[in-house]
Amino acid sequence: MTHRLFEPYDMGGLTLPNRVVMAPMTRARAEGEVPDALTARYYSQRAGAGLIISEGVPISRAGRGFLYTPGLFTAEQAEGWSRVTEAVHAAGGRIFAQLWHVGRVSHHSLQPEAAAPVGPTDERAVNAGSFARDADGNPGMITPDTPRALTTDEIVDLVSDFARAARTAIDAGFDGVEIHAANGYLFDQFINGALNDREDQYGGSIANRLRFPLETLDAVIAEIGADKVGIRISPFGRFNDLAAFADEGETWVTMAGELEARRPAYVHLSDQLTLGAEKMPDGFAASFCQTYGGTLIAAGGFDQATGEAALADGELDLIAMGRPFIANPDLVERMQAGHPLAEANRETFYGPIGARGYTDYPTYAEQQAVQQAQESEA
Ligand SMILES: Cc1cc2nc3c(=O)[nH]c(=O)nc-3n(C[C@H](O)[C@H](O)[C@H](O)COP(=O)(O)O)c2cc1C
Repeated sequence: MTHRLFEPYDMGGLTLPNRVVMAPMTRARAEGEVPDALTARYYSQRAGAGLIISEGVPISRAGRGFLYTPGLFTAEQAEGWSRVTEAVHAAGGRIFAQLWHVGRVSHHSLQPEAAAPVGPTDERAVNAGSFARDADGNPGMITPDTPRALTTDEIVDLVSDFARAARTAIDAGFDGVEIHAANGYLFDQFINGALNDREDQYGGSIANRLRFPLETLDAVIAEIGADKVGIRISPFGRFNDLAAFADEGETWVTMAGELEARRPAYVHLSDQLTLGAEKMPDGFAASFCQTYGGTLIAAGGFDQATGEAALADGELDLIAMGRPFIANPDLVERMQAGHPLAEANRETFYGPIGARGYTDYPTYAEQQAVQQAQESEA
């Protein structure tokens, strides 16, 4: 087996020491929605990743669909994130912030003035979940409320909100940002031709459905520079109640062309195989790559062997791993040394449960030390 996973990669001037990216993962640990010392510890423990992409970071109060997610829209949150980026850099790592707006996948209890969530249309996401408080005030997965369709002016304002959040992220020490246009959230809702039935310039044709994410990408690039901006998309994704639509392949290949014209720091394909969706059609990645020639990351069920194989195929530059990073803070080191990997416990993926299942997974060396101590006691 070749070992390209552990070779450095020059991503628009930022040198990544290896090609293993930590995929963005919401962990819902921030009780006050401000990153704290525990957040800093969690990310700095994982600084061995070539690049860390943070959990989804809400860009505004209305962009929230989950309780306990640390945002980037108050001074206190920005200050909290600057402690996180400092800790990651001190540990030798690099970190991008994933800028997130959930669109219609939210609940009035999370919204300013208990208003309806917003999206391209007023069609409710039924087969989806918002992590919010029920009528009795208990947190849990709740079906999102019926949304209100955004006005054209509000869409223009949202573009500026993203640019502002990107600036705040850079000021807080992030190495860049990833625009979250995947997994059935705001931008994916606009791109989806089965859902987006708008009659203004943000709905209808492929160009119109791509307009909002692309205007946002342009605004964020203008604010912080293309080499600091990545974008995550999930072509053919069905997560959060998105349906198939007629010109789906053509939509995504058109997107590839638009991304080629802009050449952001990277494009991150999120394959939803692990989220219950079908795999992207065979050959799709190849046709995407024929149009888009920039840095390409993919995520979705990779392990060391399949990651190496995908890099050897030559279409991908970087491999993102999610769940393996939850249970293995020293994932890259373990894979490189051929040590066994620990399994992540799903029960502790989310929730304000502190260090449990978050910062208490040991490195391989720590695990060995504990084992040896136990053996010498026995
Ligand atoms: C606990 C958890 C939280 C996640 N949160 C996010 C998120 O905030 N943003 C996002 O784009 N993807 C999110 N994902 C999807 C992952 O980034 C990744 O694409 C997915 O887990 C598949 O990769 P894996 O098989 O290596 O885990 C999450 C996945 C998990 C398991």
